[in-house]
Amino acid sequence: MLMSLPTTQTAIASPARRSPLVSLSAPVHPPGPGEIVVLVQWTASTPLDLHRADGGLGITAYPSLLGDGGAAGEIVAVGPGGDLKGLTVGERVMVFAFRGPKEANHQEYMTIPAFLVSRIPSGLTYPEAATIPVNLVTVFHSVTKDLELELPWPVPGGGWAPKHARTPILIWGASSSVGVFALQVLRHWGYENLLAVSSSRHHVYLESVGATACFDYTQPGVEDKILEHVRMVPSSVGKGSMIPYILDCIGSVKGTLGPLTKIARRGTRVAVMLPVIVRDATDEDEPVYEGDVSKVLPGQWADGVTLHGVRTHFYLENEFFKEKLMSEIVPALVEQGVVKPNKYRVVEGATVLERAQKALDLLRQRAVSGERLVWKIPDA
Ligand SMILES: NC(=O)c1ccc[n+]([C@@H]2O[C@H](COP(=O)([O-])OP(=O)(O)OC[C@H]3O[C@@H](n4cnc5c(N)ncnc54)[C@H](OP(=O)(O)O)[C@@H]3O)[C@@H](O)[C@H]2O)c1
Repeated sequence: MLMSLPTTQTAIASPARRSPLVSLSAPVHPPGPGEIVVLVQWTASTPLDLHRADGGLGITAYPSLLGDGGAAGEIVAVGPGGDLKGLTVGERVMVFAFRGPKEANHQEYMTIPAFLVSRIPSGLTYPEAATIPVNLVTVFHSVTKDLELELPWPVPGGGWAPKHARTPILIWGASSSVGVFALQVLRHWGYENLLAVSSSRHHVYLESVGATACFDYTQPGVEDKILEHVRMVPSSVGKGSMIPYILDCIGSVKGTLGPLTKIARRGTRVAVMLPVIVRDATDEDEPVYEGDVSKVLPGQWADGVTLHGVRTHFYLENEFFKEKLMSEIVPALVEQGVVKPNKYRVVEGATVLERAQKALDLLRQRAVSGERLVWKIPDA
C-alpha cells in the first residue's frame, strides 16, 4: 500500500569534511517492493557520524546525508508486494540502515527494505529503541564471523552449552555500546568467562549485564592484572594465561591495540572494530584512520595471533542473519529482556540541525561514556 508521501523532506548532511553540518531538502523515496517508509522520530549519533563528518569515511560526494547509528519511528507507507515481513502502516519500528541517502537515519523519511527493520516491543520508548539495532547486530556479526564463536538461533534447550562456555573471552571497551551488548548476548548464550575492560565507574553495571570480572584500563599495569586473573582462575583452555578470544570494541592504536599486543598470545583471535583509529578527531586535528588491521603495530604482535577487522556492513552476506536478525532475533531478545537498551543521553536543541551538531560536538569532545546520544528528528 502506498500512502501519500511528501516529495521532499529535511535531512542533515555534511557539506564538506570538518565543516559544520547543514540541513537541506532531500527527496522522499517512494517504497519499492519489499520496502517500507519510516517517519523517523528519534535517531542516534554514534562514533561513525564523527568518522564520516571529520574523516570523510565512506563519503564519495558532498553534501553527504548522515546517520547510520540506528533510528526509530512509525511506518507510514509500504511498497507494492515483495517480502514485507508482515510489516504494516502504523507499526512502531527500529532500524539498522546504512546503505546511502534513501536509508540515511538523520532525515524525516527513510525508505528501507523490511529485512533491516525490527518491530519495537511494547513498553519500549522511541529513544530507547534507537539505541539498540546497530550495535546489537554488530555483536552477532563480530562474534560469529570474526571470533567464530557459536550463537545458534533459537538457543538450543535441554542443557545445551556452547563449546567455549568456560573459555576466557576478553571484551576491551566493555562500557561502549558494542561492549554492553556483547556481554548481554554472550551471557545469554551460556558464555561464562567474560572479562570486561572499562573505566571503573561502569564496573558494577557491567557485572550486572554479564561480566565475570572487570578491569580498569585507566590504571597502569591493567594488562598484567588481566593475565594474572586468567592464570589464577581455571578455564576450559587451561593454558596458563592464554586468552583465546578478544573483542576490541574500540579499535584505537594507542588506547586498545597497543595494550592488546601485550595480552594476545599464539592462537588468540582478536576481532577489532574498524576503522582503526590512528589519531582521534579533535577541534584542532583531523582524524587518521586505518582500514586494514594487519598494517597496525607490525612486529608487535606475538607470532600466531590472528587479527580480524570487523565490518558489520557486510552482515547481509549471511543469508540467515539477513532474513532473521532484525526481523526476528533482535525483537525477541528485547521482548524477553535478554537485551536492555543502552543507557542514553537526550541531546536537546531548538532545531534538528542544532541537535545534530551538538551530538557531533559531544562525540568529538569524547564526552560520551557508557551512553548513546539520541535526539529527536521532528522539530514540532
Ligand atoms: N566496523 C564495525 O562494524 C563497527 C560497528 C560498530 C561500531 N564500530 C566502531 O566501534 C567503536 C565503538 O563504537 P560504540 O558505538 O560502541 O562507541 P561508544 O559507545 O560511543 O564508546 C564510548 C565508550 O568507549 C570507551 N573507551 C574509549 N576508549 C577506550 C579505551 N582505550 N579502552 C576501553 N574503553 C574505551 C569509553 O569507556 P569509559 O567510559 O569506560 O572510559 C566509552 O564508554 C567506534 O569507533 C565505532 O565506529 C565499528
